[in-house]
Amino acid sequence: MTKEYQFPENFLWGGATAANQLEGGYLEGGRGLSIADVMPGGKIRGSFRNNPDFHFEMDTTKYVYPNHQAIDHYHRYKEDIALFAEMGFKTYRMSISWSRIFPNGDETEPNEEGLAFYDKVFDELNKYGIEPLVTLIHNEIPLHLVKEYGGWKNRELLTFFERYVKAVFNRYKDKVKYWLTFNEINSALRLPLYSLGFIPKNDEQKEQLVFQGLHHQLLASALAVKLGHEMIPGSQVGCMLLYAPIYPYNCHPENVLYAKEESRLFNYFCGDVHVFGEYPRFINRYFKEHNVKLDIQEGDLALLKEGKVDFISFSYYMSCTEKIIGDQKERVLGNMIGGFKNPFLKASEWGWEIDPHGLRISLNDLYDRYRLPLFIVENGLGANDTIEEDGTIQDDYRIDYLREHITAMAESIEDGVELMGYTSWGPIDIVSAGTGEMSKRYGFIYVDKNDDGSGTFNRMKKKSFDWYKNVIATNGREL
Ligand code: BG6
Repeated sequence: MTKEYQFPENFLWGGATAANQLEGGYLEGGRGLSIADVMPGGKIRGSFRNNPDFHFEMDTTKYVYPNHQAIDHYHRYKEDIALFAEMGFKTYRMSISWSRIFPNGDETEPNEEGLAFYDKVFDELNKYGIEPLVTLIHNEIPLHLVKEYGGWKNRELLTFFERYVKAVFNRYKDKVKYWLTFNEINSALRLPLYSLGFIPKNDEQKEQLVFQGLHHQLLASALAVKLGHEMIPGSQVGCMLLYAPIYPYNCHPENVLYAKEESRLFNYFCGDVHVFGEYPRFINRYFKEHNVKLDIQEGDLALLKEGKVDFISFSYYMSCTEKIIGDQKERVLGNMIGGFKNPFLKASEWGWEIDPHGLRISLNDLYDRYRLPLFIVENGLGANDTIEEDGTIQDDYRIDYLREHITAMAESIEDGVELMGYTSWGPIDIVSAGTGEMSKRYGFIYVDKNDDGSGTFNRMKKKSFDWYKNVIATNGREL
């Protein structure tokens, strides 16, 4: 007999997206260009993201830019939200595109048309009783701030960010209670481009600039928490981490130590600042050894203390395996992280290792360290889907993946972890962040759009649609 799991009564089931990956309408409603708009689709995207000679220009004669039209949610949000409602979503994680609200980023007044668009989206969600969970920044910096100011390594971005946050908090204070500050803030340690908006020229520069840029973002994040509490009574503001447990390749103590150190830096550095309101002691040694000298100004440390988060949200896709001793050479790669091949795990078609136990480990480790409520705001399987002759899409592989991860989550609740909710990634097919492909699909809802941009954009339910609907209806008792 299969075990019946018990989820908390008000558990927030739902799905998660990012504006630049689903909205489209990239020049509509007065929107300005964002960094995501100059990233082409396909393999070429991967080669641009670490190339210091990339100048953030578009070349539509050579490349396809899938984010421009994305899945046209800008015009079809009503249809999409109706489908989320049909699945019984309790919550919907989405992001606001900064350049819809401040097209260049450095204006003093917000763009009314941009603000009005999200009003309509929130009203539509409200119609169905779906609680919005809003990410302030999800891999989107207005392009002007990247080209003219050099991205987050420039402290001036804090001023522009403050204006943006005040504008959206003020406008949506009666509509949105749950907020997240920066998507996968720690991903900057591996790939600064999307989150910090610059590409370092060499390793030395990377250490200094990335940590300085992160310092600015950590301040911005604390400021958003503080403003949220002041401007929206009863609101809850969380951080968002990319979490991947880092396993030692074997029990050689040096590998164990190495994996622990890597994990402390990647998984916990940003979380520690968000939760404890101060830099962790371990980072001093790292800064010394890597010659990082932060410019910390008066009031910075006090602000970090004032802006401690209410909860911790994170994405979980895979675990990583690391070593400094041993023969294993074969590597695996996600979109931001990677490691050595783990012989005990299978991988997705895109080579991401599938590890549901890793989710239970992550939940327990995070809760043991922080004792704050947790929220899984991204998890899912990117796969090629086939439309059968009868028009159905039999995505049992996706159902299996999600069932195993939700089971791991249920087990961790039994372990004592406080979990607020679960939003699977891309409940409707959207543009992949890592490769810009449409063919890497995560959704319960299929979107008829191809990698070259062709397609009707029609929406179709996959087999997983009814499965997830039932998971929500039974509050996780039937998986
Ligand atoms: C996360 C990002 O890193 O992974 C999302 O927050 C992204 O924006 C998701 O889409 C899945 O990655 P990909 O590369 O398969 O789209």
